Amino acid sequence: MASVLVLNGPNLGRLGSREPDVYGAQDLEALRSALTADAAGAIEIDLRQTNDEAELISWLYEAVDTATPVILNPAAFTHYSYALRDAAALVTKAGLPLIEVHISNPHARETFRHTSVISAVASGVIAGFGFDSYRLALRSVIGL
Ligand code: DQA
Repeated sequence: MASVLVLNGPNLGRLGSREPDVYGAQDLEALRSALTADAAGAIEIDLRQTNDEAELISWLYEAVDTATPVILNPAAFTHYSYALRDAAALVTKAGLPLIEVHISNPHARETFRHTSVISAVASGVIAGFGFDSYRLALRSVIGL
């Protein structure tokens, strides 16, 4: 079965207890369940989280090597990781979709969150819809 990598950056492992006013009360396992239900067997959901930039980059290499589409919430790396950006560019340059997602709307928050170094190399960006940002991205990946 085809799969999609749903990759989550630093501090997203604390969803559920981390700033629930911003990120909601549900954790990553709830996200996995929602995406698995949405996928309805059409695609395997391979959801991962890391606080480690190098690990996240290695997962993007894996996406290229296995021709797997990516839904990526780079979390705080969004705003400053040129290394992650360069790895994300490898994915889209390989012709694979890489959809940048955010639970919150970074543009409605602190100024440092208004910059994404990832967006210019992403296939598209979905932000501000809570877990629905991922669900909309999944719909797009399945459609593609
Ligand atoms: C986030 C937004 C980022 O600014 C923040 O650093 C995160 C989560 C989001 O999903 O809204 O960790 O990517």
